[in-house]
Amino acid sequence: MNDRDRILALDRAHVWRPFTSLERHATGDDLVITGAEGAFVIDADGRRYFDATGAWWCQVLGYAHPRLVAALRAQAEVLPHVALAAATHAPAAELAAKLVEVAPKGDRRLSRVFYSDDGSTAVEVALKIAYQHAQQNGGAKRQRFLAFPGAYHGDTVGAMSVGAVDDFTSVFRPLLFRDRVRGADGTAPRTEAEWEALCARIEAHLATEGDTVCALVVEPLVQGANGMRFFGAELLRRLRDACDRAGVLLIADEVFTGFGRTGTMWACERARVVPDLLCTAKGLSGGMLPFAATLATDTVYEGFRGGMGRAFLHGHTFTGNPLGCAVALEVLRIFEEERVLDGVARRASTLRAGFERLQRHAGVSNARALGMVAAIDLGRGSYLEDDRGWKVHEAAKARGVLLRPLGDVIYAVPPLNVDEGELTGFLDALDASIADVS
Ligand SMILES: Cc1ncc(COP(=O)(O)O)c(C=O)c1O
Repeated sequence: MNDRDRILALDRAHVWRPFTSLERHATGDDLVITGAEGAFVIDADGRRYFDATGAWWCQVLGYAHPRLVAALRAQAEVLPHVALAAATHAPAAELAAKLVEVAPKGDRRLSRVFYSDDGSTAVEVALKIAYQHAQQNGGAKRQRFLAFPGAYHGDTVGAMSVGAVDDFTSVFRPLLFRDRVRGADGTAPRTEAEWEALCARIEAHLATEGDTVCALVVEPLVQGANGMRFFGAELLRRLRDACDRAGVLLIADEVFTGFGRTGTMWACERARVVPDLLCTAKGLSGGMLPFAATLATDTVYEGFRGGMGRAFLHGHTFTGNPLGCAVALEVLRIFEEERVLDGVARRASTLRAGFERLQRHAGVSNARALGMVAAIDLGRGSYLEDDRGWKVHEAAKARGVLLRPLGDVIYAVPPLNVDEGELTGFLDALDASIADVS
C-alpha cells in the first residue's frame, strides 16, 4: 500500500468528515493533500489544484505565505500559549491595538477586542455580549435578536439560532432559541426587489417592536453560505439608521467579508457603517490557524463596568492564543506593506469578466461579483439534491481546479493577491469544465 492509500484508508476508517455523508466518505472524495502554496493545493501524487474555495474562504493571502509561516514559527519558539485572563502578552495587546486602528471608522469607535477561536465563536460572543449588555443597561425587555432569512453565522447552537433553518439545521430546531429570534424564517432574498422588501420589513419591525430587540445580526453585503447573494450598501446603511432609532445594537458578521474579501478591508466600509459589534475570523489569521475576534464599541464595553456581577464571564481555553495573535499581526503588516487592497480592483475585474463570460453556456445565469468573490447559478436545485454543481466540480477537478459548489451555485474566492496569470488559467479551466457539463 503506498502512502496515499494508507492515509486514505486510515481516514475512511477513523475520521468523521464535516458536511459529508458516510456513503460519500466511504467511496468518494479521495483527494489526499500533502502540501499547499499560494492559490494551489498539492496532492499525494504531486498534482496541483487551484483552490477556488480558499479552504472555506479563509485564504486571503494564499496558502503558506512565507511571512506568516515565519511569524508562526517565531512565536511558537517564544510563547505558544498562555491563558489571557490573569495575564496579558505582547501579541494579544499589539493585535488588539492594530485591529482597532484598521476597524471601520465613523460615528462610533470599535475600541475593544474579545478573542475566540473561529467564526462561530466570534458570533456566539457577539450574541452573548449584546444580550447581557441589554439586560444590565435598562433593556430587560430586549430579549430578542433580529436576523435575516438565508443567513449563515456558524454551526454552534447560538450561531445556528440566528441563521436559516434549512436542510443542514432543521433537525436541531427544538434546541435552538428560535423563539428569541425574529426575521430569520422565510425565503432567502435573491432579487434586488426581495432585498428591498426584506429591509423594509426589518425597518418596520424595529420601528414597532424595537424595544424587545437587543441586536440585529447581519452578514454585511454578502450572504456567503446562501449561495453568494449580494445586497446593496444603501440597505445596510438604512438598517444601521433603523437600529439607532430603536436603540438596537448592530452586529456585523464579517467572518467571510472581512479582510478585503469584498475589495475594502470590511464590507461595512462600503456602506459607511460602523457596527456596535464586529465578528472577524477566517482571513484574520490568513488561513493559517483557528483564530477569531469580536470587536466592540466603547459604549458596549462601558456597559459591563461594575464588578464581577456585571462582567462578561465568558472565555475559551485558547482565547487570545499568542500564535493566532502573532500570525494575525503579520497578516495586517502584509496588508499594509504589500499594499494588498490596492491590487484587488484589477484582479476583481478579471474575476468578474471571467464569471460573466460563463453565462454564454446553456443553463448558466446570474453572474455576480463583488471584490474577490464571484458566483453563477446553474439552475434551481437544492443544496443536497442538485448534482449539476458536483458534475462541474468533478470536471474542474480533472482540470486542476477545486470548486466545491454550494448546491447549484458555483463560486470562487481566490486569494486577494493571486497571481494574475494563475487567475486567468483558473477562469479558462472553469469555462471548459462548465462547457463539458453543459
Ligand atoms: C458569515 C459567516 N459567519 C460565521 C461563519 C462560521 O465560521 P467558522 O466556520 O469559522 O465557525 C461562517 C463560515 O463560513 C461565515 O461565512
